[in-house]
Amino acid sequence: MWIALSIIFSAIGVSKSLPAPVSSLQYDSGLSYKYSYQLTILLNEDSNITSRSAAVGRNVGYKVSSEFLLSNVWQSSSDPKEKLLKLELLKPTLLVSSTMHSTEGINRHWSKLDNLSYPPIYIHWNDGIVQKVYLLPDSQSLINIKKGIASLLQLHVSNTPTKEADVAGICEVRYKTAGNTIRKNKYNCQKSSSIPKQQSSELRMSTITSTSEMIVDLIPQENIIQTLTSREEVMMTLNMWKQAAVFVKSKIHVNFIDRQKNPFVISATDVKSALGALSKEMGQSFKEETLEIESDPNICIGNCKPLMELVKEYSENMHSSHLGKVKSAAGFLKLLDGFRRASKKDIFMVFKKAEEAILTQLLDVLAATQSTDALDVAFELVEFESKDTTIAERFLLCLATVPYPNEDLIVRTLKLLHRKLKSEKVRATILVTLSSLIRTYCKNNPKNKGSVIVKDVSDLFLRELGGCHHIICVLNHLLALKNAALPEHIPILLEYIKKGGILGLVAMEALKEIGEEHFNKEVKNVLFRAYFQFWPHQESAARVLAAELLIKSDSTISTVGSLVLSLASREQPEISTLVLSKVYSAMKKNDAISSCVKEVLRNTTFGNYNYLAQNGTSTSYEHLLLATHDVNVTYGINMEMRPAGMLKRTSLDLGLQNNHENLHLISLGLFVEGFGLSDEEQKENPEEHSAGMQLSVLGVHLRPYIFFTGTAELMGLVWSGVGGEPTPALQANFLIMDQMQSIVLQNGISVDFMLKGALSADVSGTVEISMWNKNAHAKVKNSGALLVNGFCRVDTSFVESHVDFALGGSSALDMVVDLDFGKKPMKICLQVEQPDYIFRHNVRKTETIPGSKHLIKTLKRRSIHFPGRSFNLHKKNSDSCKELLLPKKQASSFW
Ligand SMILES: *[C@@H]1O[C@H](CO)[C@@H](O)[C@H](O)[C@H]1NC(C)=O
Ligand SMILES: *[C@@H]1O[C@H](CO)[C@@H](O)[C@H](O)[C@H]1NC(C)=O
Ligand SMILES: *[C@@H]1O[C@H](CO)[C@@H](O)[C@H](O)[C@H]1NC(C)=O
Ligand SMILES: *[C@@H]1O[C@H](CO)[C@@H](O)[C@H](O)[C@H]1NC(C)=O
Ligand SMILES: *[C@@H]1O[C@H](CO)[C@@H](O)[C@H](O)[C@H]1NC(C)=O
Repeated sequence: MWIALSIIFSAIGVSKSLPAPVSSLQYDSGLSYKYSYQLTILLNEDSNITSRSAAVGRNVGYKVSSEFLLSNVWQSSSDPKEKLLKLELLKPTLLVSSTMHSTEGINRHWSKLDNLSYPPIYIHWNDGIVQKVYLLPDSQSLINIKKGIASLLQLHVSNTPTKEADVAGICEVRYKTAGNTIRKNKYNCQKSSSIPKQQSSELRMSTITSTSEMIVDLIPQENIIQTLTSREEVMMTLNMWKQAAVFVKSKIHVNFIDRQKNPFVISATDVKSALGALSKEMGQSFKEETLEIESDPNICIGNCKPLMELVKEYSENMHSSHLGKVKSAAGFLKLLDGFRRASKKDIFMVFKKAEEAILTQLLDVLAATQSTDALDVAFELVEFESKDTTIAERFLLCLATVPYPNEDLIVRTLKLLHRKLKSEKVRATILVTLSSLIRTYCKNNPKNKGSVIVKDVSDLFLRELGGCHHIICVLNHLLALKNAALPEHIPILLEYIKKGGILGLVAMEALKEIGEEHFNKEVKNVLFRAYFQFWPHQESAARVLAAELLIKSDSTISTVGSLVLSLASREQPEISTLVLSKVYSAMKKNDAISSCVKEVLRNTTFGNYNYLAQNGTSTSYEHLLLATHDVNVTYGINMEMRPAGMLKRTSLDLGLQNNHENLHLISLGLFVEGFGLSDEEQKENPEEHSAGMQLSVLGVHLRPYIFFTGTAELMGLVWSGVGGEPTPALQANFLIMDQMQSIVLQNGISVDFMLKGALSADVSGTVEISMWNKNAHAKVKNSGALLVNGFCRVDTSFVESHVDFALGGSSALDMVVDLDFGKKPMKICLQVEQPDYIFRHNVRKTETIPGSKHLIKTLKRRSIHFPGRSFNLHKKNSDSCKELLLPKKQASSFW
């Protein structure tokens, strides 16, 4: 065949001087071609972010060595480019390093491969494209490897980038040819079945990258493979800490050995009848498949014991005393896998049999599991109708923070509202959960914004809001709009902003959540008027927020100029002080705002002492808690005072930031009403005394936690548990990362990447107010632990290799507020402290050969120590602390 073609080409004079461009392979009828084949797999971690080339420590990995025979058993008589190729693998063997420390290379090792039979597969090949493969009963691992070899034969040279169906799905491919060499690169393979889950938060994910290149040298003058080398690398890098990276490198070598006559040739008109004849001849039927390899999502990683056993093993971790520590987060992640695999019956059994003390923590896991079985159990088990709201509210909060809510979960949560709920608190929390789920659902996939379920929930919020008769009802629904953060709610929010008061403030906060990019002229106009009190009863915090949003959304000379001019008013020193600090922090974050403000202040009409020297004691700033290469941990302090020096509200926000994203971790706010008003103000505005706490976790704003309202309740107030123990305000484990992706290598073997992260939180506090001494002391203890597990595994039935990392640590941030409202001006002292903590990054590698004793196990530990610190907040606070705290120390001193 080739000779004939060659003669024709010689005749027209192109053959020697200018070889015909290679387009695809040419395996001739009646011949068998023998090749040697070797695949290599290496796994390792790569913690060097400056140079990704330097692998740390020993690799784990293996080789599979074999020969294969490729025979043309049928060829279309009308189109010689259409063929049926038979691929036989000849005695594959596994090669591994015999021991962990062995450096002398790798040796043949017994494995299940040795006990397998190797039926051939048939490849329907048409002009370089593998149409289908035909399989006989075989082990899955070997089918995959054979499909991998079949995919090497897929060469359909094209000058432009094209798409090909491959072992890894539909891939973009590019070819380059030079002489007898073909270079093929593959990109962006998309599996036909599973679409990877989308997540909007980069910091809550890892990045998985892959590169693949194949170089084929053809035998000169003959379109058959002489040698083939394929190199691939897939890597998972944690976005939050890029030093946590694991990778798999894979290589394939194929070498031509010889060719033999193959008398077995089928004559048939088409491939279908050829296969029919073949099947008859062999007495076996074929299974038709595409090249694509399906990965099995149900294989378990790590500890695969039944759920009940897992619960027993980790029950110690699940005690509430470990909340806020890595131990709790670790137990949570271990059990999560077990719950995901478990049936409804098994899950029920666990809740029946497990010890009482860990049940609430098990509910955290159940909320994060998100399987239909788990949700069935949870919605049956949790008593939403009960008077004791603690468990139901905690469960709802865990649901509210899940990374991938689906429609089923939203529908189930929505249905809760139809139950006979005894507690308004639970009802309020259901609204919080529902709205937060909607927000994540829309963020993960913008298409969901137009979905029926989102519209249903949004309509429900608006309908119920319209029907509210009581301020608490309105407040709860505005809080839902704040958590949902849907731009279509802007018009109704503007109405509430105009009305002012505490509802106006929550509506303004909701606007902030929706984001400046959705503000039109009307919104900016309302913000402007709210700040300048065109409508009465604007809360001071709402005005400050209006100013902040104006600076961000409308940084024009005229708007910024008006804001600056307003600072001259001496009636509102605290508001002016806060607005000025908002201007300065907005400048730090945004260059456009910075240049606009600078331009305004350059004009001495604006940039002068009258406006820029503010003497209020309120403050607002954000500082770095910890800077790493990939992320900054920040804390923000907001403190709004009354003109008399009394605290109105304060908050402490913790967040993670990189250049693209600001991930909110936790925010603790305290608010105090009715203290420190002048007698006149008291008459004019007879607010009741009240105090409370406002918490947000992972962007979910919880319903306010009221310590007390009314003077009567206040008189004997000590908000703390038995024996002065702090009262828990937020205790739970949250799933913050949840990612799983399989990538099929060119050799047909799957690499599974899995990432899971848990946040364990324990926030508790005490408040003591003495009306006698006219002072107050509040302490909020905020402990949290983060644990991130990353797994990379390359498993086949004959060898299993893993490299995993665990990254985590726990820390605490305590906030102490002391108030003295006996004298004027009043004194307040805010202290923030953080004890020592350690952050660990461990990497474990294992390799086992099922059925043999071979085991390689390594563990590398790294730790970073962070010394404890007490934060130097702002100067006015320090001065105030000195005055407030010093006398106490003297009093308690021996002298
Ligand atoms: C990271 O790689 C760079 C460049 O290869 C090298 O100079 C440096 O020592 C490596 N750092 C570590 C911690 O291995
Ligand atoms: C594998 O086959 C060998 C002989 O071919 C036999 O001795 C051995 O028991 C088999 N092992 C297993 C696990 O089947
Ligand atoms: C400063 O601003 C005032 C008020 O807008 C304006 O009248 C004046 O021309 C400005 N001066 C300069 C130097 O731009
Ligand atoms: C701030 O300055 C104003 C007058 O400029 C004064 O009335 C007020 O008492 C000062 N406030 C404080 C806290 O010093
Ligand atoms: C962390 O903050 C510093 C100072 O604001 C900034 O220069 C740096 O780019 C930040 N790092 C990241 C990863 O965002």
